[in-house]
Amino acid sequence: MVVINGPNLNLLGTRQPEIYGTTTLADLERDIAAWAAEHGLSVEFLQSNHEGEIIDAIHRAEGSDGVVLNPGAYAHTSRAIADAVASIETPVVEVHISNVKRREPWRAVSVLEGVVTRSIYGRGLVGYRDALRLLINLRTPPTTLPYGPHTENVGDLRVPQGARTVVMLIHGGFWLAEWGRDTMDSLALELHRRGVATWNVEYRRSGVGGAWPGSIEDVRLAFGYLRSRSEVATAPVSLLGHSAGGYLALALAGDTDVTATRVLAPITDLSLMSDDEGLGADIAGELLDAGAPSRVDGRDVRAVHGLSDQLVSPQHSKRLPDAEVELLPGIGHFELLDPGQAPGETALLGLGQHG
Ligand code: DQA
Repeated sequence: MVVINGPNLNLLGTRQPEIYGTTTLADLERDIAAWAAEHGLSVEFLQSNHEGEIIDAIHRAEGSDGVVLNPGAYAHTSRAIADAVASIETPVVEVHISNVKRREPWRAVSVLEGVVTRSIYGRGLVGYRDALRLLINLRTPPTTLPYGPHTENVGDLRVPQGARTVVMLIHGGFWLAEWGRDTMDSLALELHRRGVATWNVEYRRSGVGGAWPGSIEDVRLAFGYLRSRSEVATAPVSLLGHSAGGYLALALAGDTDVTATRVLAPITDLSLMSDDEGLGADIAGELLDAGAPSRVDGRDVRAVHGLSDQLVSPQHSKRLPDAEVELLPGIGHFELLDPGQAPGETALLGLGQHG
């Protein structure tokens, strides 16, 4: 893997720390190397303030496992870097530390859109780890299918040979644009390894098409589309949702004949949330009704929640009626997405056994 940081990122740690934090580039690169080593990968790093050097590095990366590229402000201006990315076969994931969609309008546009494999922004330094994870997961490439008219109406289908069941995965992130389906991909791959087909869906969110009612409409549309696919037409469908995606999974489970629903650190009760927790003003009160836990009473629903979750309180899972709820000490919000950890195993337990 090659990690390229563009102009001004050598100043990480001291440059506008209110936006970019206080971690230096050297510390960030050490963290990235450690994340990569966990997956048996080695990483080559480059930081440059010069467009031509970045272009040369992209050319040299051809044939490598993938490129994580933070082009800095060149993202907004450099057609030459976009051309370089388009010139190589190696997948390139664009990363921005800050939320470029919610800063000055000129930052919202990246000329790399359309040539990069995916763009990750607004997640802080974790975005680099997520980009690495995405590149690793894409080694088992899904078939990415549009299920509706909006650009966010896409899903990744993976159907292993002989699969008899299918799991639809719904990612979380408070229905905000900066969080995407890549966060569910490691779980999708783990299910795939177990012979289960997976349908990992994107949907409209705040900042990309609007969160409500777009998100739930899209999730319903994605479910209907899955049912129409011949590869999995007769397979029983289960749902796996994380965080705000858990809310959408519970809402969908209330409306459909899904076999089982598994929710990880789900939001179940919006009265427990406040605006400053990221919900945004455009989340209407009707959400409350659509996701009401009582609608899944009596269904095969199981929740897993970390007791150290600082983002979504375990109170949410405790409000699920009848659902089997497992509360895990010492576990936070995101560990549940890593099947390498025991909680991930717990979270998947039972899925794929409904053939
Ligand atoms: C950045 C965002 C760019 O708009 C900016 O010019 C940078 C850093 C980020 O990581 O958030 O230099 O790429």
